[in-house]
Amino acid sequence: MDLRTVLKSPIVYTSYQKLVGGYRARRKFVEDYLDLNPNQSLLDFGCGPGDILEFLPELDYTGVDIDPIYIEKAKAKYGHRGEFICSKLKELDLPSGKAYDYVIATGVLHHMDDKECLSFIKWAKSILKPNGKLLTLDGCYIPNQNKISKFLIDNDRGNFVRSVDEYTKLMSSQFDTVNRTIEESYFHIPYTLLIMSGETS
Ligand SMILES: C[S@@+](CC[C@H](N)C(=O)[O-])C[C@H]1O[C@@H](n2cnc3c(N)ncnc32)[C@H](O)[C@@H]1O
Repeated sequence: MDLRTVLKSPIVYTSYQKLVGGYRARRKFVEDYLDLNPNQSLLDFGCGPGDILEFLPELDYTGVDIDPIYIEKAKAKYGHRGEFICSKLKELDLPSGKAYDYVIATGVLHHMDDKECLSFIKWAKSILKPNGKLLTLDGCYIPNQNKISKFLIDNDRGNFVRSVDEYTKLMSSQFDTVNRTIEESYFHIPYTLLIMSGETS
């Protein structure tokens, strides 16, 4: 059985993330990129088992994922912290007119082809408040990459890991300014992450 299949189990996924530093990466992402207070709303697209809630303060949280097993696990562990919805983007039914301070997608763009990514980024922008932010975090390819990092990224479950420029092109289609940072020390193991943010006017 290969690792990609085994990681579909929420328990294995969460344990693996803890081992390689995925928990640390989420904590650092929240500390370094999100400036949160209890009055804010955050939509976590591709929330998985909801592990990021370990590092989020109390706030208006909505987690969305297409995987019913992850959503079931998220509801069991974090159901008291927010709402979890199992849905495809096309069928997602959010409260009409609700706008969010943040939309985040951690480890999600590299699971979606360009068409799906563009639909997601366009949709995310449409549900943000003025001065709201879309933040994404994904493994990426860079020139002269650490060989272990490249090996791990080559073997990721997502079929659409991209270069920094390829990810940026997708975000730039909707946001005039895209801030980008490459983080190589978020995990305990060599792993190259690209964090992008776009802000509404
Ligand atoms: C690598 S996991 C990341 C989970 C979580 N964001 C985290 O940081 O632990 C990718 C997640 O994206 C979800 N996903 C992939 N494609 C999706 C799509 N088209 N719509 C919604 N969720 C999707 C998967 O089910 C999975 O839970």
